[in-house]
Amino acid sequence: MDSAISRLKTYFLQTYGCQMNVYDSEILASLLEAQNYQPATAPEQADVLVFNTCCVRDNADQKVYGRLGDFKFIKAERPGQILVVAGCLAQKDGEAFLERFPQVDIVLGTHDVQALPELVQRVQAGEGRIVQVGRQGHHLDLPASPRGASSAMVPISMGCDQWCTYCIVPYVRGQLHSRPVVQVLAEVRRLVGLGYREIMLLGQNVNDYGRDLQPQVEFADLLEALGGLDAPDRLRFTSPHPAGFTPRVIQVMAANPSVCEHIHLPLQAGDDQVLARMKRGYTGQQFLDLVARLRQAIPDLGITTDIIVGFPGETEAQFQRTLEVVQQARFDSAFMFAYSPRPGTPGSLFTDQVPESERMERLYRLIHLQNGISEEKHRQRMGREVEVLVEGRSKKTSSRLTGRTRQNWLVHFDSEEDFSGRLARVRLDQAFMWGFVGTLLEVEPSAGS
Ligand code: 5AD
Ligand code: SF4
Repeated sequence: MDSAISRLKTYFLQTYGCQMNVYDSEILASLLEAQNYQPATAPEQADVLVFNTCCVRDNADQKVYGRLGDFKFIKAERPGQILVVAGCLAQKDGEAFLERFPQVDIVLGTHDVQALPELVQRVQAGEGRIVQVGRQGHHLDLPASPRGASSAMVPISMGCDQWCTYCIVPYVRGQLHSRPVVQVLAEVRRLVGLGYREIMLLGQNVNDYGRDLQPQVEFADLLEALGGLDAPDRLRFTSPHPAGFTPRVIQVMAANPSVCEHIHLPLQAGDDQVLARMKRGYTGQQFLDLVARLRQAIPDLGITTDIIVGFPGETEAQFQRTLEVVQQARFDSAFMFAYSPRPGTPGSLFTDQVPESERMERLYRLIHLQNGISEEKHRQRMGREVEVLVEGRSKKTSSRLTGRTRQNWLVHFDSEEDFSGRLARVRLDQAFMWGFVGTLLEVEPSAGS
């Protein structure tokens, strides 16, 4: 038998960063699979190894640089392997990757995801190393290829026009580009038809959705159109910008029973002057008022957030204001970060940078406060019976299943049988900072039974 034909071609994808990157990796995987590549069990063994990278903070950059360093030695033993750097860091560093890392074969920007199979073929044909980092393209018209058992992501827009002064996203993901309403509806319907119970709408700032469409539409219009007979059991979206949160979005969220009782609402900072310097477009009080309106309209709403400490010029008193807003908002959980200057952003040019030791110290204080709030809020919910969408086996304890409630609380429970992709009723018995351990009470019948 011809060994070139019989030999299996394999790929390995390593993803860093946000959900948009996870989505892009699903697309990259399906493009390679369409060329008869199959997943490899380890990166060392793959014919095509893709690092889909993030550059939102410096530690994300360093992680990728470190990992690429490891592959210098591995590739010396496997010269045929094609090493691809894709994603935001590829977009940011471009050509520089080739100089710094001789082991890299392809640098693929965020606008050129669809080009991967062709570039791999060109390198295999002996063309040499390739950089493709355009500034225009997008891949919003490709069908999603979900990898999870229960949940599927649907991008509704790519790029961002907000230009928050700390953020590199608009530079590496480009301007806002919205997907037409009919396309989103068709894609959601297709995925629901395939059996996905939960749809996650993705956009850098979903509240800007539709501004660039002709005729213009609003995010509320899209959410409203996604209600009705063929709606998914659970509809989520991430992330909405607090400044663009119109009363109509709240109204539609409350009226559409598919929309989950969860919102990820990035606070970033509590102090008004810091928020203004970040160019966020709201005050601490306006944020708290929005939280109150959301909680009033949607009972039992789970709220999560992102917070940055140590933005340039932030004084101790201004940091205290962040702590105050966190106390009052009572988030279920938060992603908390020390400010990281990003090259090319206005924030990196401010001359009053906060020393790193101070940024870290503030971060620990904030984490301590929020962890206490998360644990306390979770403890108050013990004994409740909740609906959990089962995602799969727990990575740590294989006799346990893991899933999330509509409020996005994480729940583990023991079960011999695997109920992935199904809705279960679970009693919350133990509360932790990260979520719950519960007891399975009932599972819906599987679709086939
Ligand atoms: N430094 C620290 N955190 C940042 N984020 C974005 N840019 C930076 C930065 N330069 C955080 C914000 C954003 C989340 C995805 O990452 O909180 O919401
Ligand atoms: Fe970055 Fe601000 Fe856009 Fe979010 S809204 S991606 S923080 S520029």
